[in-house]
Amino acid sequence: MRTELSFSPASHIATELLAVAAVDTQTAKGSDVKPQPELLTGDPAVKAAAAAVLSSGEFKAGANETLLLHAPAGLKANRLLIVGLGKQGKVNVHSVRSAAGTAVRFIKPRGIRELVFALPESDLLPPGPCARAAVEGAFVGDFDPDTYRSDRKDLSVQSFTVAAPSGADKSAIEPAFREGVVIGESQNFTRSLVNEPGNRLTPTEFGRRAADMAKEVGLDCEVHSTDKIKELKMGAFWSVSQGSEEPPALIVLRYEPKGVKDGPILGLVGKGITFDTGGISIKPADNMEKMKYDMAGGAAMLGAMRAIALLKPNVRVLSIVCASENMPDGKAQKPGDVQTAMSLSADKPGKTIEVINTDAEGRLVLADGITYARQLGATHLINAATLTGAIAVALGTHNAGAFSNDDETYARFNAALETSGEKFWRMPLGDEYMEQIKSDIADIKNTGGRYGGAITAAEFLHAFSEDTPWIHLDIASMAWIEDSKPFIAKGPSGVGVRSILEWARSYSS
Ligand code: BES
Ligand code: MN
Ligand code: ZN
Repeated sequence: MRTELSFSPASHIATELLAVAAVDTQTAKGSDVKPQPELLTGDPAVKAAAAAVLSSGEFKAGANETLLLHAPAGLKANRLLIVGLGKQGKVNVHSVRSAAGTAVRFIKPRGIRELVFALPESDLLPPGPCARAAVEGAFVGDFDPDTYRSDRKDLSVQSFTVAAPSGADKSAIEPAFREGVVIGESQNFTRSLVNEPGNRLTPTEFGRRAADMAKEVGLDCEVHSTDKIKELKMGAFWSVSQGSEEPPALIVLRYEPKGVKDGPILGLVGKGITFDTGGISIKPADNMEKMKYDMAGGAAMLGAMRAIALLKPNVRVLSIVCASENMPDGKAQKPGDVQTAMSLSADKPGKTIEVINTDAEGRLVLADGITYARQLGATHLINAATLTGAIAVALGTHNAGAFSNDDETYARFNAALETSGEKFWRMPLGDEYMEQIKSDIADIKNTGGRYGGAITAAEFLHAFSEDTPWIHLDIASMAWIEDSKPFIAKGPSGVGVRSILEWARSYSS
């Protein structure tokens, strides 16, 4: 998708379709009260073209509601699309992200290949952040998961133009617009990885894609396999990989801005299970095919690193993705096996883990990923993982879970959510939950019983992050969208990329 930024009046731009946002300004309540849609443009010709239909009452300006006019009078555009943002009191930058996505997804099935999106003009909607959000939303909307259909009609949008209000402040809008491109593309990079089936995206291929991306954007990248994992004595990681014909991949990315010699080193750790059968504690057949997306946490870290490399914050960042299959096999680990995790330093032996359930494999690979990130010098950790079904039981599919051992570190993440618009809900940690994962035979066991499953999983990771400031994101509830929405296709969501990026940028000196 080509993107452009225009400062010409929207009514003067020749295009297949001009999209303009509208809000419902009705504040009175009651069943007989009619919506009062208002177009968010200062362009009188656009206002005039929409006046009749807006006064008809046919269009309510509900969030992501659309109305199409052909041959709008007085405009150079062939079509005018009005996109609702919802009630005025609830409208924000995130409504604009969705509206842009909705406009893109409106034109795709109609074979229209270009559009101009008029930035909404409203005191509540700052033009810089809105330009960024609109571009992000357009990229997100343009993505469809039908990669392997042989009759695939590529309907992707070729050109997306943001029309800034004429007279708007270029210096605020231009950089925000360019950021939007980087972030939208990075989120889609993550989604394209998550979409890949397990037979195509093996751990080795995952490593290759990481290396290709790293080369493209100028990141340091090493991809290791079995030998290095054994050399580092990553007994927890290897215990998951030992039952697979496919070798694991330990992906290490480094972003080191010139001139930054001290300050924090951020460690981004991702779960990269390219297919999770459950291992010997095998999963039921229903929905098992979905377990190709069990590498979404790792893919989110790669997307965030891509954006970091291009947006160049002044902070050092490293990323560890632990990629493996989880398979049943003659060599697979068994329930009851005891594994020794990687040790942080020579004076500290690795923790021993009783594996109660081989399907709780994400926490095993992450345990060693977290320790390795700390050993490489990470001072602040964030990890992302499709870790537990229990997080969806707790939060439904409208929030992902966030856990942290440090309020200051979490406050930065919470602030990042304001910018990203992603929904994470902070969940508790606590010694009582840690009690649930004490083992009779080893230091810790990998499941904690029926209750609080997302929290006992988080406490398991906490045993490895220890007192290093750390955030754990359980994205199992959000990484895959079951039903299409007006602004995003069903399939991989790319959740996490934008928030992790913003969190990392908050450390830029
Ligand atoms: N990858 C799954 C978690 C998952 C479930 C992700 C549904 C996305 C959708 C994870 O490895 C797993 O199997 N977790 C178990 C843990 C249990 C054995 C303690 C679970 O959630 O059932
Ligand atoms: Mn599992
Ligand atoms: Zn898993």
